[in-house]
Amino acid sequence: MYKIAVIPGDGTGPEQVREGLKVLNAAAEKFKFRLETVHYDLGGERYLRTGEILPESVLHELKLFDAIFLGAIGHPDVAPGILEKGLLLQLRFQLDLYINLRPVKLYPGVSTPLKNKKPEDIDFVVVRENTEGLYAGSGGFLRKGTPYEVALQESVNTRFGVERCLRYAFEYCRSKRERKKLTLCGKTNVLTYAFDLWQRAFYEVAKEYPDVQTDYAHVDAICMWMVKNPEWFDVIVTDNMFGDIITDLGAMIQGGMGIAAGANLHPGQVSMFEPIGGSAPKYTGQNVINPLAAIGAAAMMLDFLGETKAAKSIENAVASVCRDKLKSLNAGEMGYSTGEVGDLVAESL
Ligand code: IPM
Ligand code: MN
Repeated sequence: MYKIAVIPGDGTGPEQVREGLKVLNAAAEKFKFRLETVHYDLGGERYLRTGEILPESVLHELKLFDAIFLGAIGHPDVAPGILEKGLLLQLRFQLDLYINLRPVKLYPGVSTPLKNKKPEDIDFVVVRENTEGLYAGSGGFLRKGTPYEVALQESVNTRFGVERCLRYAFEYCRSKRERKKLTLCGKTNVLTYAFDLWQRAFYEVAKEYPDVQTDYAHVDAICMWMVKNPEWFDVIVTDNMFGDIITDLGAMIQGGMGIAAGANLHPGQVSMFEPIGGSAPKYTGQNVINPLAAIGAAAMMLDFLGETKAAKSIENAVASVCRDKLKSLNAGEMGYSTGEVGDLVAESL
């Protein structure tokens, strides 16, 4: 039995989560495990109503679950940054979810904007550091509002934080990937402190993984090659900011936000699973959003919990629905409603 905290969140989050749970329950029946879910109404609505974003008591409770299933955070009536920093990033930091794992996989039948690229060309995973870098919140203003204003935003890179991220990436490459090629994505030609540390740690840890082939590329070149030669990549490891940027590019080449799923992990502790797209307020409540990203996140959750067969079956079901049923992955163009896509995956399972 697994205890799952469910945070449907804002906008289309609740619709996505509903379909994710539908598929999780179908998997539980088939693979003979049980899920106990507790819903939390965190998000923009609660903030507007009560002023609360992430109460201490809720944070404490969340630590007692096996996993957290998150819909989306972001509300049109709340200023940008408040919910993102107060809720999503707070959960990542407070639960020390130091890995953001984002697979970029093109399923057969899904159209990619990359001309002549096929499913076998687009199949890699980004391991994004999730607790440090520019996201750490280090910096501040001097003389704010004057003509001599200074804004500092510092990238924090600790040997401990970088090394645990690298070690995760090497382990992941060794245990989950056939090609076992790990590319460090950095900017050693300009960020000569931060990525000096990353690069030294990378090649030191690499000595313990002779079976993993290593490579290095600057982040700008990675953007170029993700478009031109995505088949070069197997696993990419990078810092928080670069990881944020390249995974949106990754989401687009795998067919869009409708299918892009991610996991915020701390191996051995409660971890959080989410579709990586936002709350898409304009589609809220219309039953047109694509739930496959949330369903993919649910599969990642099962894999993390050790239900690897169930996770694989969900992935296969998603692949077959993409191949045989959906006209497009875009909201409103799928040929099916949100609920029907969830039904299709559950039936296929
Ligand atoms: C993501 C999102 C978040 C991030 C935002 C909403 C804070 O873009 O999960 O990639 O920048 O990490
Ligand atoms: Mn992002």
